[in-house]
Amino acid sequence: MSIAREDVLHGEEIAVNPVAGRIGAEISGISLTGSLDSNAVSFIHEALLRHKVVFFRNQHHLDDREQEAFAKLLGRPAAHPTVPVREGSDYILELNSDHGNGRANSWHTDVTFLAAYPKFSVLRGVVIPEAGGDTVWANTAAAYEGLPASLQKLADQLWAVHTNAYDYAAERRDFTEEALKHHNEVFSSTVYETEHPVVHIHPETGERHLLLGHFVKRFVGLSTADSQQIFSILQRHVTQIENTVRWRWKAGDVAIWDNRATQHYAVNDYGNASRVVRRITIDGDIPTGLDGRRSVTKTFVKRREAE
Ligand SMILES: [Fe+2]
Repeated sequence: MSIAREDVLHGEEIAVNPVAGRIGAEISGISLTGSLDSNAVSFIHEALLRHKVVFFRNQHHLDDREQEAFAKLLGRPAAHPTVPVREGSDYILELNSDHGNGRANSWHTDVTFLAAYPKFSVLRGVVIPEAGGDTVWANTAAAYEGLPASLQKLADQLWAVHTNAYDYAAERRDFTEEALKHHNEVFSSTVYETEHPVVHIHPETGERHLLLGHFVKRFVGLSTADSQQIFSILQRHVTQIENTVRWRWKAGDVAIWDNRATQHYAVNDYGNASRVVRRITIDGDIPTGLDGRRSVTKTFVKRREAE
């Protein structure tokens, strides 16, 4: 595939180098802009489906507008359903460690409390701590594939309720009052509950994936106690170290992940240092389970009006 000369970064050679054995690759030599040629976009798209998360260094030329313009080449951007966009932007969610909303240190897939949750996320490193603040991604197809047949059968039949009104404080040992306030007043200002199949078929690759993460509240038809135990068995297979890749951020890096094929975790090990990253998500389809049924959002409560 030939890539236009203006899309090449500093005359570098274009290459895709795997970072870990089962997930993640660094793409070098491409300068991400809103005017990338269609060959370059297809090249990135294919690498993304194959490696689940791709990384780009030295994208210092990107500002919010250009990040948005580039993201539009991958699909239709969607603003976060409850958290306001960054001022001056149309779609950007800023995760800022100084503002109580930047420490996503528990395993999740973005926005799975919606039926049509995002297919891709495009994350740009703006301020990165001198040490720490890495992100880890896990391959949810490898997790399914690695399950023994009996557990695959169990997972195949399960559906899970995902909600943004999960118990934030129970998830995080090191939460601050400010983070808790942000969670309750902004993040869960509207409550969504969506039923997803635990195993879904990827619409582009046909692969089977486990769809879990921290928005899961319980499994349909099971008690909370049974749900918790089965959840930890299955989730443990997702986060098995062999299924993961860890990225050491530098400012100017961009990570793009297939949100239908991964979970991720932002490592909160940088104390009071600042960490600012900016994310744009791309609209996804409603997942389909093995029985052909599609995910559905069951309730939609405006918490403030309900109170
Ligand atoms: Fe996330």
